Amino acid sequence: MRIDIITIFPGYFAPLGMSLIGKAALRGDVQITVHDLRDWSHDAHRTVDDTPYGGGPGMVMKPEPWGEALDAATAADGPAPRLVVPAPSGALFTQQTAAGYAREPRLVFACGRYEGIDARVVDEARTRMAVDEVSIGDYVLAGGEAAVLVMVEAVCRLVPGVLGNAASVADDSFGGSGDPGVAAPADAGRPEAAPPAGGARRAATDGCGSGMAGLLEGPVYTKPRVWRGREVPPVLLSGDHGAIARWRRDAALSRTAAMRPELIHRLDPASLNDRDREVLSRAGFPMHPEDMAH
Ligand code: ADE
Repeated sequence: MRIDIITIFPGYFAPLGMSLIGKAALRGDVQITVHDLRDWSHDAHRTVDDTPYGGGPGMVMKPEPWGEALDAATAADGPAPRLVVPAPSGALFTQQTAAGYAREPRLVFACGRYEGIDARVVDEARTRMAVDEVSIGDYVLAGGEAAVLVMVEAVCRLVPGVLGNAASVADDSFGGSGDPGVAAPADAGRPEAAPPAGGARRAATDGCGSGMAGLLEGPVYTKPRVWRGREVPPVLLSGDHGAIARWRRDAALSRTAAMRPELIHRLDPASLNDRDREVLSRAGFPMHPEDMAH
């Protein structure tokens, strides 16, 4: 996968040289190039912003440097990229979005600052490539850089070969939809305009066992077996894989009900077995099919 990032703060992306993604880049599993937008400015001050038409506070990023930067970043041979523009007004970036992006051969991220980028840049880009305006959450950052770091990390760890242990992707919170092996829905890669009722989240849910699609991951433990008087749940030492999978699913259901009840309402009732319903009922969710998926 090839990723280009355009920003006025190239130094912001130094962390991408570290850890899993840094190693994946060294191996060539991902190729990440950071470009300085100011290289496409046209004056001695390397100006990339100007006052907004119509008045108002702050500055707006000028279209000319952005147009030329996108021309340059997309000129190279190979498949047309998908352009991702982080903005608090964008569609929500989810694990499903990350899984779709991980299947793209080429992504270009355009980091806006100030009050944003002149809107004609995105309009014009849409005439020649797929463009997503994406928010990482309901809060406002000072610019797109931190959001792009988040998205690049979420996407790259799903690229085959990047994560040492592929199984840990399938067991992630929101897992299943993040499994690179799950076939892409037609619109994979597009952020959710509205959350689906289940959607790809339920793709890996098998009603029991390790299918954790749409659920938050429960607690994990390692050695020692007893620490400060606290024991690891005995079932995890039992060697009974079926019982362990069931315990993990119980824990995921309970945690999701406590932390993110809205995710419970999005589960496909058909994906729940009697034991699931019992656990959810104890957590305050009587799960009769007619109560769900609204
Ligand atoms: N830029 C500013 N806030 C943002 C957010 N929440 N998501 C993506 N980009 C942003």
